[in-house]
Amino acid sequence: MPRLILPSPHSREQNTLLHPPTKINVCTAGSKFGKTTGIGAWQAKVAWENPNTISRWVAPIYRQAKIGMRVINRMYPSSLCQMHRADMELHLANGSIIQFASADRPETLEGEGVQFFVVDEAAKMSEEAWQAHLSTISATDGIGWVVSTPKGRNWFHALAQLGIDPSEPDFSFFRFQTSHNPHVRPEVIARARRILPVRVFEQMFLGLFRDETGGVFEGVDACAVLLGAADPIAGMIYQLGADIAKVNDYTVLTVMDSNGNVVAWERFNGLLWGEQVHRIEKLALHYQATIQLDATGIGDPIFDALRERGLRVVPHKFTNQNKRQLIENLKAGMSEGDVRYPRIAILMNELKAFEHSLTKTGEIRYSAPLGSHDDAVISLALAWYGVRGYSPTAEEITIEPQRLYRQRGGGDARRTQHGTS
Ligand SMILES: Nc1ncnc2c1ncn2[C@@H]1O[C@H](COP(=O)(O)OP(=O)(O)OP(=O)(O)O)[C@@H](O)[C@H]1O
Ligand SMILES: [Mg+2]
Repeated sequence: MPRLILPSPHSREQNTLLHPPTKINVCTAGSKFGKTTGIGAWQAKVAWENPNTISRWVAPIYRQAKIGMRVINRMYPSSLCQMHRADMELHLANGSIIQFASADRPETLEGEGVQFFVVDEAAKMSEEAWQAHLSTISATDGIGWVVSTPKGRNWFHALAQLGIDPSEPDFSFFRFQTSHNPHVRPEVIARARRILPVRVFEQMFLGLFRDETGGVFEGVDACAVLLGAADPIAGMIYQLGADIAKVNDYTVLTVMDSNGNVVAWERFNGLLWGEQVHRIEKLALHYQATIQLDATGIGDPIFDALRERGLRVVPHKFTNQNKRQLIENLKAGMSEGDVRYPRIAILMNELKAFEHSLTKTGEIRYSAPLGSHDDAVISLALAWYGVRGYSPTAEEITIEPQRLYRQRGGGDARRTQHGTS
């Protein structure tokens, strides 16, 4: 008889996840503690030990639900488990089904008769999603785990309080730290402790609830002091931060003057690259701006096209390391009040949501939450880099800058360029 391929718990703490003591078991743990692996092993085990049952795995977004499905599928020999990708279900040879749902699609949370459940990264989900899920387990008296690294004091925090309360027999609560996972090197944790603000470290590595501190940028509201866009002023030097749309995201263009004021801001998607080049060119010419271009992963055509049009372009190819520098540079500019912008809701929301995370290789990364955009943040950071700079690593390429001045007075830049060559 084939056997399940379950990971052995790496510690006494992770072993706890295999033995939930109550109906609703809440666990907060540091990033990379082994939450997903641990509850995945429990989920695989109970679905197999209890034939003809229905289990439900909920993740914040579809992509994470898919990751959960792959992790659990690997725990079964292929003869015991069939993956039904379109339905997001695993069908086991004992008649049990494990469904995978994402909290951002409430319709996938509907259903009934769920006996076993897992809610992974719960603190990133809305309370509505949790309540929709709860309605599907109340009739069956389902048993499960609600697990997450904390994120402020939201509904997940309130649920944890029920787990701590000894007069609530259906709830239990556990807290684990990243350091319980022997696969995470101690020096990674020591470095994070040095780099991160105390409260962020406590939340992210110790699994402690703290007031909403996850944000990378301070003073997002305080920097929103400008009334709106501003026309170019003679003699002023401008920078244009350009983050180009890749697959599902947006192109964002931010023009900043040398005093750190955002004077123009554009965001669009769905344009062919030729049209994008045209919009960037128009804006750059209007302000006579140097373009700071995120050239990571877009290939050279946009950079070449802008350069061929005689524009000043500084290409930035990001690695985790230099992206971190770019973001830290913006963070410093904002906390000192040197960066100013109008109240652009999309920009401000992206800045507020930007968070710290830990990569698989143990590096601290700054990024938008999974499933959210960071184009406005990167575009702003590039413009600010152009204003202040932070290192000589980016290569400035200036092709025939005099062409810029020939174009003064408007007109179609491409026609002008062809007309003069
Ligand atoms: N029991 C185990 N045996 C071997 N490796 C493990 C075990 N548990 C976790 N790991 C490894 O530790 C790392 C983190 O595990 P996992 O992704 O489960 O943690 P997590 O707490 O869910 O992380 P995140 O905060 O990113 O969601 C992974 O590389 C995983 O393979
Ligand atoms: Mg996880």
